[in-house]
Amino acid sequence: MNDAIIRTENLHKTYTTGKITTHALRGVSLEIPRSSFTAIVGRSGHGKSTLMHLIGGLDRPTGGTIFLAGEEINRLSNSRLAALRARKIGFVFQFFNLLSSLTAEENVATAMMFAGAPEKRQSERARELLSLVGLLDKLKAKPSELSGGQQQRVAIARALANDPEILLMDEPTGNLDSESEAEVLDTVFRLHREGKTVVIVTHNNEIARRAERIIKVKDGRITGNE
Ligand SMILES: Nc1ncnc2c1ncn2[C@@H]1O[C@H](COP(=O)(O)OP(=O)(O)OP(=O)(O)O)[C@@H](O)[C@H]1O
Ligand SMILES: [Mg+2]
Repeated sequence: MNDAIIRTENLHKTYTTGKITTHALRGVSLEIPRSSFTAIVGRSGHGKSTLMHLIGGLDRPTGGTIFLAGEEINRLSNSRLAALRARKIGFVFQFFNLLSSLTAEENVATAMMFAGAPEKRQSERARELLSLVGLLDKLKAKPSELSGGQQQRVAIARALANDPEILLMDEPTGNLDSESEAEVLDTVFRLHREGKTVVIVTHNNEIARRAERIIKVKDGRITGNE
């Protein structure tokens, strides 16, 4: 067996909205090696986010198979899939998706509730993770009191809450200025050096250049894999 932590075979996804059918993915087969850094690039509407949602188990394919850490996720019930996702995957999205009424520390701690850790342990770990992303001085700040880059680093800390092997990021710097982008990228590259498997959808040339592998998505298919 090779060491692919994610593998897909002939993945298809069709969305049907009323009478409109969209073939978002038209047969995607790929392998993501463990501890690798992969950039997914391609034009708007060509299927990148759909692919990320499927490999992260947030949605199910219309056809094809997905293996995540050795498990064929199509065969799992929704609850077992949710449990696998919580253990193995951290998601970071373009619009940070933080809860606005909670502090940075609470946003990170709530991600651990699923794993059932005691509350005291949750807030200790939340502080550790926020320290890792350089935000120890912002534990009690609400998202509205943080810059975009700081909010995204809280989102990264939250994604790390259950110590996932895989970080899936969908344009994590899409809404940041260049300084905040640099802060976030430093964090992402460091996590990769520490052994995380990183898959990142990006329009940023610097990230694509520094990635070990680039997957090009066009019209629901992979057109290049370098
Ligand atoms: N929930 C949905 N229902 C119906 N159609 C959808 C849904 N999600 C995505 N699509 C369609 O599927 C296609 C692929 O969308 P996707 O979001 O994967 O593109 P993308 O490559 O991530 O684009 P962007 O770079 O703009 O984020 C598009 O035509 C989109 O309109
Ligand atoms: Mg997208």
